[in-house]
Amino acid sequence: MEFIIAESTEDMSRRAADHIAACLQADPDCVLGLATGTTPIGLYAELVEDCAEGKVSFAGVTTFNLDEYRGLAPEHDQSYRYFMKKHLFDHVDIDQARTHVPEGANPDAHAVCAAYEEAIAAAGGVDMQLLGLGPNGHIGFNEPEDTFPAATHCVDLTQSTIEANSRLFECIDDVPRQAYTMGIGTIMAARSVLMVVEGAHKAEIVKKAFFGPVTPQIPASILQFHQNVTVIVDPAAGELCRDKA
Ligand code: F6R
Repeated sequence: MEFIIAESTEDMSRRAADHIAACLQADPDCVLGLATGTTPIGLYAELVEDCAEGKVSFAGVTTFNLDEYRGLAPEHDQSYRYFMKKHLFDHVDIDQARTHVPEGANPDAHAVCAAYEEAIAAAGGVDMQLLGLGPNGHIGFNEPEDTFPAATHCVDLTQSTIEANSRLFECIDDVPRQAYTMGIGTIMAARSVLMVVEGAHKAEIVKKAFFGPVTPQIPASILQFHQNVTVIVDPAAGELCRDKA
């Protein structure tokens, strides 16, 4: 694992964008796994700029997002499809037909999850998976549990995740209670992983996830077993790991 403490939050975003740009340059037809949340917004903005300046192209790229709320249509302004269009897809030269987000509007969990795994396999698997880190150590919507869930599945969100995400909805009752998410097995099958983390409130979980015991109670800790992981954190999130970087 490569663990980098960036000089600032902006530097974290720039470095992460450079990492993705390098993947695109090495393989213009690569398959990217993408994440939503506050943390990647800066790096998506950097990539939009890079694309406008002709430094990168998404023309050959296929994407698979980690997750989507169950029950939200793509047009809903809190759906992850909407987020991706707003922050990346609508501003780069990507073929939107090759962008995939689990079908939140379809209540048939079995069909949605099976189709997602099939689509990832048909694309040849994910080359580079971008991740954020939940305050409780979740990745995608894989919440702390007794086991590591393998494949794409439907989850009940924990109260802490509902509360953390309620800032984006009008009120907490509007936050969906379930989501479709890639499983830990799906994420671990990616050929490389890039995680970005920002904020002092994540300092403790960063230390536990990457330098503590591997446990399904901290889902991100499984990444310690992945062979090609880069973690880029901002100074606040890296505060308790200064001796490790
Ligand atoms: C989003 C996702 C989540 C977030 C995590 C951190 O697609 O899968 O695991 O990455 O909740 O979110 P932020 O960046 O908002 O702190």
